[in-house]
Amino acid sequence: MDKPAAAETEAPAAPSEEATAYGAADQSKKPRARIRVRHFARAKREGIRITGLTSYDYLSAKIFDDAGIDFLLVGDSAGNTVFGYDTTLPVTVEELMPLTAAVARAAERALVVADMPFGSYEAGSQEALHNATRFMKEAGAHAVKLEGGERVAKQIRRIVDAGIPVLAHIGYTPQSEHGLGGHVIQGRGGEGLEQLLRDARAVEEAGAFAVVIEMVPSDAAAAVTREVGIPTISVGAGPECDGQLLVWTDWAGFSTGRTPRFVKQYAQIGQTLRDAAVEFQNDVRSGAYPAPEHEYDQG
Ligand code: KIV
Repeated sequence: MDKPAAAETEAPAAPSEEATAYGAADQSKKPRARIRVRHFARAKREGIRITGLTSYDYLSAKIFDDAGIDFLLVGDSAGNTVFGYDTTLPVTVEELMPLTAAVARAAERALVVADMPFGSYEAGSQEALHNATRFMKEAGAHAVKLEGGERVAKQIRRIVDAGIPVLAHIGYTPQSEHGLGGHVIQGRGGEGLEQLLRDARAVEEAGAFAVVIEMVPSDAAAAVTREVGIPTISVGAGPECDGQLLVWTDWAGFSTGRTPRFVKQYAQIGQTLRDAAVEFQNDVRSGAYPAPEHEYDQG
């Protein structure tokens, strides 16, 4: 390629071509080694805590991946956070597919897990394998997640046998909200703990590489963590699990409603965005924006 002329190397006051459109992330950096399911097993053996966040889009995924988060879950919580449904029940495979593809395009290092929505695996192993395969093939996911313990062990086994890693999900399972009678803490009392242990053993036996435990008492989750050989990932299941996962919009203070007790908010981006929108509105009304530095000249 020819060297640019001196005049072309000076910073132009108003470029005739912008480097990127809409602030797309920098794609020029060197790829980093991918987190694999074997790294989850190693983390448990070595006592290294695993980190996960949900993600539903390219830019947030890029940021979490750069920060070193180990896995990104394209959760059906997108039903609430992206699509504005009251529950995760209406979410479809078609809705999660493009979100998963965007996150997979962003993640260089993190393991990308696609959440299988309600109605995409309950009918049997064939349906489960069909939809899991779609997430891997069409969206570029690295693993899938299913809700349920003993009752979905067959589906987990079928998917794992096809070479697709499965993250299981036990304890409170939002897709069963109505069956469970609301947002009820699971694993309480002797029978609750027994069921949790049965579920954990069943998903391990079926071949899941790790298990999410949602909204159970810390000592119940600790008992599961001691009992099973696969890593346990807490969502409101206390500090003794092998890893922690949060819904990013709760974690970053982006969600509007009340967040569950187990969430620690690490930022207040909802308020930051609101303040920015008010300032923008004021600037446009007053004529302060755009200023001369935001204008193009004739070149
Ligand atoms: O959809 C989701 O975000 C989840 C996590 C809360 C575990 O399933």
